[in-house]
Amino acid sequence: MLQKMAKVLLVGSGLTGSATAALLRQKLPENTSISVWDKARGAGGRMSTSRCPNDSSITVDLGAQYITLTQEYKAKRKSLYDELQTQGILAPLTGQIEGPNSFDQPGAEHFVTPKGSSSLVKFFLQKANASMKNECLVTEVSFSDGGQVSVTTREDLTESFDVVVITMPVPQILQLRGSIHDCINSNSSVKKNLQNVSYSSRYALGLFFPPQTNLKYPWSAKYISDNPCVRYIALDQVKRGTADPNQGQSLAVHTNVPFGLAHLEEDVNSVKDELLANVRKVLPDLPEPMFVKPQKWRYSQVHKAYEGRPGCVTLSTNPLVIVAGDGFSGSTFDGCLDSAETVVKIIQENLHTSTSSGL
Ligand SMILES: Cc1cc2nc3c(=O)[nH]c(=O)nc-3n(C[C@H](O)[C@H](O)[C@H](O)COP(=O)(O)OP(=O)(O)OC[C@H]3O[C@@H](n4cnc5c(N)ncnc54)[C@H](O)[C@@H]3O)c2cc1C
Ligand SMILES: *[C@@H]1O[C@H](CO)[C@@H](O)[C@H](O)[C@H]1NC(C)=O
Ligand SMILES: *[C@@H]1O[C@H](CO)[C@@H](O)[C@H](O)[C@H]1NC(C)=O
Ligand SMILES: *[C@@H]1O[C@H](CO)[C@@H](O)[C@H](O)[C@H]1NC(C)=O
Ligand SMILES: *[C@@H]1O[C@H](CO)[C@@H](O)[C@H](O)[C@H]1NC(C)=O
Ligand SMILES: *[C@@H]1O[C@H](CO)[C@@H](O)[C@H](O)[C@H]1NC(C)=O
Repeated sequence: MLQKMAKVLLVGSGLTGSATAALLRQKLPENTSISVWDKARGAGGRMSTSRCPNDSSITVDLGAQYITLTQEYKAKRKSLYDELQTQGILAPLTGQIEGPNSFDQPGAEHFVTPKGSSSLVKFFLQKANASMKNECLVTEVSFSDGGQVSVTTREDLTESFDVVVITMPVPQILQLRGSIHDCINSNSSVKKNLQNVSYSSRYALGLFFPPQTNLKYPWSAKYISDNPCVRYIALDQVKRGTADPNQGQSLAVHTNVPFGLAHLEEDVNSVKDELLANVRKVLPDLPEPMFVKPQKWRYSQVHKAYEGRPGCVTLSTNPLVIVAGDGFSGSTFDGCLDSAETVVKIIQENLHTSTSSGL
């Protein structure tokens, strides 16, 4: 039954989808077709790196800021962290982080992404050698017992797969149409648990500055607790350890969650000015940026994960349909990798039962 495993689709090219694809490429037969579809124009998801339209050499990380390796994962992920450092994808964080935060966990080590957070996702996608489709917004997932999974996008593409893994934020999974909807409704504990997964919401802002701009601050990143809107600011190149006076720079700004919630349904461009005004209150001497990129994170970080943090949940075994992502573990690099590993384990188990069933 190996050919039953021949076609796998990962919905979402964030960290979970990309790491799952890379692991599957390692563990499944060589001729397995692995596809990754994402609604966005590029890969990365919440590990996204934006470029300045005026100078594409300047980038800013609007989502994940640094990777924290806790004591718990040091032994388990040592070889991966070593490889990521050898390849220059991760480097130890050396800059000064100011302000009240949860940064100082005993025994934890922090890493930055010198090439931007999306380079982490691209590292896995490269290993996956997957067939990537961008600007593919999945709207419908349908399957019946023993058949294939039919996946349809807003762009009117429909294709069938043997295995589908869905890694978008849980509230968006609950909006999918097709028989997946009935499948979730038919299992009341799964439905309740999915509905109970919640995320924080916040806005982010990327400010881009031309070369030679004087941005002299004593911190590389700073947590702020006395502004009604701004929670965090980072000099992205200083934080990444790549600052160079001959290159442009960027400042990343995150709002606090109450501000994010209060303005959630507003247009991101109309919120931009209020955000900028607050950045000016925090940094009164900030020079004029040449471009400002706003970003709304409706689903920012997992506030309440799926009950028991299982890593993923199997909605159907034949065909295999799995939901995964940080909602099933936690909003960290290692949480997403845990999710990817549990998905791969379930797919492998399924492959083995199908093979040994002797059909
Ligand atoms: C502001 C912010 C700060 C953060 N800071 C940190 C940090 O410092 N350290 C850290 O470790 N983590 C941090 N995180 C969390 C981290 O970014 C996430 O946990 C991680 O990126 C989640 O990866 P994922 O693949 O599970 O989900 P996502 O990255 O959300 O990937 C899901 C993908 O699915 C796609 N998608 C959604 N709907 C559809 C659809 N219908 N069809 C097709 N594709 C779809 C999306 O475009 C997206 O690319 C932060 C997140 C944010 C937003
Ligand atoms: C993949 O390779 C296996 C042998 O490794 C073979 O049995 C199977 O038919 C192949 N599947 C496809 C779709 O080519
Ligand atoms: C990647 O996949 C393509 C087919 O999609 C194959 O021709 C190529 O050899 C693969 N590359 C690697 C490095 O495995
Ligand atoms: C959902 O969350 C609420 C409160 O956050 C809790 O009281 C309830 O038990 C949860 N339900 C399930 C099914 O976990
Ligand atoms: C930067 O690019 C934006 C968008 O393309 C444009 O509106 C703006 O005028 C440019 N600014 C500078 C300083 O070149
Ligand atoms: C509901 O789904 C879960 C997770 O796949 C499974 O363990 C459980 O047995 C299912 N319950 C029913 C009643 O089908």
